[in-house]
Amino acid sequence: MSWFGGLKAKVLVNESLAKHTTLKSGHGAGLWIEPFDKEDLRALIKRCRSLRKKYFILGLGSKVLFKRKKVPLVIHLGSDNFKRCALEGSDIIASAGVSLNRLLAVAYENGLGGLEFLSGIPASVGGALALNAGVGWPVRLDIGTFVYEVEVMDRLGRVRTLSQKELKFKYRGSNLKSRVILGARFRLFKKRKKNIRIKMDKFWDYRKTTQDLGYPSAGCVFKNYNGQPSGRLIDLCGLKGSRIGDAQISAKHGNFIINLANADSKDIVSLIKLAQRKVRAKFGIKLEPEIQII
Ligand code: EPU
Repeated sequence: MSWFGGLKAKVLVNESLAKHTTLKSGHGAGLWIEPFDKEDLRALIKRCRSLRKKYFILGLGSKVLFKRKKVPLVIHLGSDNFKRCALEGSDIIASAGVSLNRLLAVAYENGLGGLEFLSGIPASVGGALALNAGVGWPVRLDIGTFVYEVEVMDRLGRVRTLSQKELKFKYRGSNLKSRVILGARFRLFKKRKKNIRIKMDKFWDYRKTTQDLGYPSAGCVFKNYNGQPSGRLIDLCGLKGSRIGDAQISAKHGNFIINLANADSKDIVSLIKLAQRKVRAKFGIKLEPEIQII
């Protein structure tokens, strides 16, 4: 029996990672495993630990660039048991595999406001929490502000609920990255549905107007530096429209790299390095990627 035998998980061999990332690039995952439920996940994680197998937890793949020829093991919380989203008073309890779109739909349907700024971000709850997804316009807003508690599994398979006090969110980061995020309780506030819709549309319109959403991308590639927009710095270096193979620095927004057709991950990495080199030479600033490069 293989080392993963006996699990209830869905297991795929040599699964294309381009299929599972919004950049639509990357080679394969030796094994792609979707645990059936928490118990199954626990069993899997424990086996990985005892066999010293490294794994990567992937949500909806919106902030990841896979550049390796092969990633041995990817775990994805894609089964229905990790896609629950329910109301409890004026809180929403959402599992890690729920998309932000669905979370927003449940909030809207129940007249709960706060999260409208996430409108159109193609992430899962787990991914959005790990990176503290947010926007910078008209003011900085992050998902972490609305989180009351987060349920996680550690690398030994133990489940814990982290309270607000134990959670540390910062700009595009959190203290959740070393654990498997299982779900969260969002504390929202009552708001008229009409006003929720207006606000969601406002954020979505801003993104459509300013960002390049017509091609596959990972959203912003770099974090902003001390409040200075990386997109503007890249723009000022004259790099918009620069192309290597099918990868291009968007002509619309300097912090977007788009996949024109069949971009190779290594061409995307070359553009990332080009932007870093030029911005460093011109402004003395080292751009730090906000996407994970694996
Ligand atoms: N700008 C330029 N040239 C460009 C791009 C931007 O001059 O090519 C200027 C804009 O004119 C504006 C300023 O830079 O004055 C800021 O641009 P924008 O409003 O587009 O915001 P951003 O700082 O580039 C941040 C987040 C986005 C989020 C937007 C909107 C980061 C790294 N990015 O972008 O997040 O959607 O605010 O609120 O913090 C993401 O994380 O994937 C992402 C797209």
